[in-house]
Amino acid sequence: MDDRLQRIEAALEHFIPAREDSLSKTVNAAMRYTLLDGGKRVRAVMTLAFAALCGGREEDAMPYACAIEMVHAYSLIHDDLPCMDDDDIRRGKPSNHKVFGEAQALIAGDGLLTKAFETALCPEAVQAIGAERAARAAYVLAECAGETGMVGGQCIDLETEEKPATLETLREMDIGKTSNLFMAACMMGVIAGGGTESEIEAAKEYALHIGLAFQIRDDILDAVGDAAELGKSTGVDLQNGRGTYVTILGVERAQELVEENTAMALQILEIFPGDKTFLRDFATKMVWRTK
Ligand code: IPE
Ligand code: IPE
Ligand code: MG
Ligand code: MG
Ligand code: MG
Repeated sequence: MDDRLQRIEAALEHFIPAREDSLSKTVNAAMRYTLLDGGKRVRAVMTLAFAALCGGREEDAMPYACAIEMVHAYSLIHDDLPCMDDDDIRRGKPSNHKVFGEAQALIAGDGLLTKAFETALCPEAVQAIGAERAARAAYVLAECAGETGMVGGQCIDLETEEKPATLETLREMDIGKTSNLFMAACMMGVIAGGGTESEIEAAKEYALHIGLAFQIRDDILDAVGDAAELGKSTGVDLQNGRGTYVTILGVERAQELVEENTAMALQILEIFPGDKTFLRDFATKMVWRTK
C-alpha cells in the first residue's frame, strides 16, 4: 500500500510539474498546493485496485488514478470557497483561497479539472490502453464529474441551507457529490484494466454504496471527529445549516447506514472472479475511519 501511494504521488508530480519560471506560475503553484502533499488518495487507490482486479497493469491505470485525484482536488478547492462551505483549513493547512486568494483558487480548480481530461487523453495513456478505452474512461469521468454527477450533488447540497432536506434528497445529494467521483474512479479502473461491461456496471454499483458510506462517515466526523486528525474544520455542516444524515438522523443511525452501505458494496464485489481481498479490506477499514 505504501509503495502504491508513493507511485501515485510521483505520477501526480509527473503530470503537473512545477513551472516556477513561467508567467503563469501562480496558478501552477495553486494547483500543486492542493493536489500534491496531502490527501488519502482513496479514489486513486480504487482505480488501481479495480484495474488490478481485472488483470490490468498498474502503469496503464495510473493516468486515470491521477485524473480522478485532479477532479477531486478541484472539487475541494471550490467546496472550501467562501461562497460555498467557507472553510479555512484543508488537509492540515490553510485552504487554497487562504493562500492564493479567491480568484486564483477559482482558476486553480478550473486548471485541475481541465488537466484531468488532458491526462486521461494524453498520448501515453491512449497508447497504453487504446483510443477506444481511453475515450470511454474520459466520458465516464466527465459524466460523473458534471451536472448529473458531482456538480449536481453540490447544487443540492447548497440548497439544503434554504429548505430542510428529506432522506430522499440527502441520498441523491450524497450520490451526486460523493459517490459519483468514486464511480468514476472504479469504472475507469475496470476500463483501463480491460474489464467487461458487466464488470464496469458492478464497479459503478460498488462505488455508489462506498461513496454513500464515505460521505455519511464524513458527516459523522464533521460532528464528532477530531479537527487536528482530520486536517479540516469540524462543525462546518451545523454552522452552515446544512442538512446531512447526521443532522437529521443522529450519529448512531448514520453509522448504521455506513455499515449497511459497506455491506452492500462488499456483496457486489463478489461478481468479480479475481482476488477481492484488497478492496474488501479497504472498504471495511473505511467504516470506522477517523480521518
Ligand atoms: C473529502 O474527501 C470530501 C468528501 C467527499 C467527503 P477525502 O476525505 O477523500 O479527502 P482527502 O482527499 O483525503 O483530503
Ligand atoms: C464534499 O462534501 C463534496 C465535494 C467536495 C464534492 P463536504 O463539503 O462534506 O466535504 P468536506 O467535509 O469539506 O471535505
Ligand atoms: Mg461541501
Ligand atoms: Mg466542505
Ligand atoms: Mg464534510
